[in-house]
Amino acid sequence: MKHILVFTLIGITSLVLSCTSSENKTDDQSLPENALSVLDTAHYIQQADSLITITFDTLSKTLKAKMNEGGPVAAVPFCREQAYPLTATYQNEFVFLRRTSLKFRNPGNSPGDDEKAILEDWQKAFDAGNTPGYGFYTDEGRVHVMKPIFLKEMCLACHGTLEKDIKTSTLAVIDSLYSLDKARNYKEGDLRGGWHVTFFVQD
Ligand code: HEC
Repeated sequence: MKHILVFTLIGITSLVLSCTSSENKTDDQSLPENALSVLDTAHYIQQADSLITITFDTLSKTLKAKMNEGGPVAAVPFCREQAYPLTATYQNEFVFLRRTSLKFRNPGNSPGDDEKAILEDWQKAFDAGNTPGYGFYTDEGRVHVMKPIFLKEMCLACHGTLEKDIKTSTLAVIDSLYSLDKARNYKEGDLRGGWHVTFFVQD
């Protein structure tokens, strides 16, 4: 059985608060049988969040350095080859980390059904003017946490608009490597996709 929960940032806060304010709470019959406790959920989200922070910091530092050295053209191929090894550095046998998006550049990052459901919920929330928060679901032996990725100014050189942000020379490299690229025409602040951390849980 599979449970999919999507929280807004406010949702998470109130979940954690409601947990601490009701210590004597007995089993909540409304929860599905094998749903994780609120505390477990908060724990996994916290773990995922720190992994994502470390990985993102490393990725963006590396990107910035490459852009400074040789501009976006030099950084594009680097991104392609280094993104996976960099994220893999922080993986161990119990955790797997990846990025995905509804408008992906690398087809290897295209979302699976569960990821897609969460990305679509986020996009709806975002389009309605809300800030989407963490996505959370479980399936057999695994706990999944997703966190939205928003577009920053430094991302525009490779994910922005063709007229304004992406230079012809950069576009040529992107097109040569990613013939099916959808990850362009974003604006600063846009929802770009999400991190997905999978925990392999042992009984
Ligand atoms: C120098 C160009 C460049 C810059 C700058 C850049 N990206 Fe990317 N981005 C890429 C390339 C190339 C890929 C495909 C990587 C791969 O093959 O997995 C990618 C992939 C991604 C993906 C994975 C999903 C997909 O589309 O395949 C996300 C999410 C993403 N970028 C977000 C960002 C964000 C957020 C920033 C700014 C902090 C950023 N990128 C800056 C070039 C860039």
